[in-house]
Amino acid sequence: MKKAIVFLVILSLVCFSVFAEGTREKAPANEKLVVGFAQIGQESGWRGAETTSITFYAAQNIDTIQLHFADAQQKQENQIKAVRSFIQMGVDVIGLAPVVETGWETVLKEAKEAEIPVIFVDRMANVSDDLYASFIGSDFVDEGQKAAKEMIRLLNGKGNVVMLEGTVGASAAIDRQKGFLEEIAKAPGITIIARQSGDFTRSKGKEVMESFLKSYPQIDGAYADNDDMMLGAIEAIKEAGKKSGTQIKTVSVDGVKGLFEAMVAGEANVTVECNPLLGPQFFQAAADLKAGKSIPKWIKSNEDVYRQETAAADLPTRLY
Ligand code: AHR
Repeated sequence: MKKAIVFLVILSLVCFSVFAEGTREKAPANEKLVVGFAQIGQESGWRGAETTSITFYAAQNIDTIQLHFADAQQKQENQIKAVRSFIQMGVDVIGLAPVVETGWETVLKEAKEAEIPVIFVDRMANVSDDLYASFIGSDFVDEGQKAAKEMIRLLNGKGNVVMLEGTVGASAAIDRQKGFLEEIAKAPGITIIARQSGDFTRSKGKEVMESFLKSYPQIDGAYADNDDMMLGAIEAIKEAGKKSGTQIKTVSVDGVKGLFEAMVAGEANVTVECNPLLGPQFFQAAADLKAGKSIPKWIKSNEDVYRQETAAADLPTRLY
């Protein structure tokens, strides 16, 4: 509750509804860095941490940064609308976390024509290099590979595994699954018995796991594209009278506090970290672009793997 209030206060300091500000003019040169950020939504704890990182950084630097923040409620059409609104405002830089990979060419060409650079934050889009300035985020294929290595270790190379997948068409889902499946194929004793999207949310993760448990009497491992879906799946496993973390081993991606708590309770086994605290890097890159400096095409995050065995010691150090 306290967290939610702090978050709302920060948002109210720095956020403006883009839909209400369609005609705002570009700030005169050499004044504040004016940035528009088109966020996906609030589907997970990870997403909340990323939003807080961006809005908090802007609030701390309110003398030099003006942030226009839009929450698209997980709808691509709302993100496109937000980007168009930022173009109309004449912001210096646009930040975009594309909910899905495809369907961005038209609006990104409009940004290019308006000479407004676009930085992809956390997720990538399937577009040509000339349509974006940089991608700040993780190597999702590598995350999927790390997750599979952990699953193979936990199952000693054999067993039935189910996959709870993220939003269909999202780069974070597509690439994690690619990495996971490539790596898991190296253990012929492991069979993927079911795969279904839980849209990166806890509630859908729970629903998907409930249906897996009804259809498959022998599940040895569960992999999820994010921790929130796994937390929902753990609820389903417990309600079905099975032991999560022992009878059914779990591996998921993100590294949110809730998953560390589940590991401390012995109900989860591994989380592969994906860093959401991208605010400082994003605004630095935006300021560099405004100053005419060149920036790397991919600003990659450094990430770790966390296991149940060290979770109690790791938990107090977690920032999200
Ligand atoms: O794009 C990153 C993914 O999006 C995170 O893993 C997930 O929790 C979020 O919703």
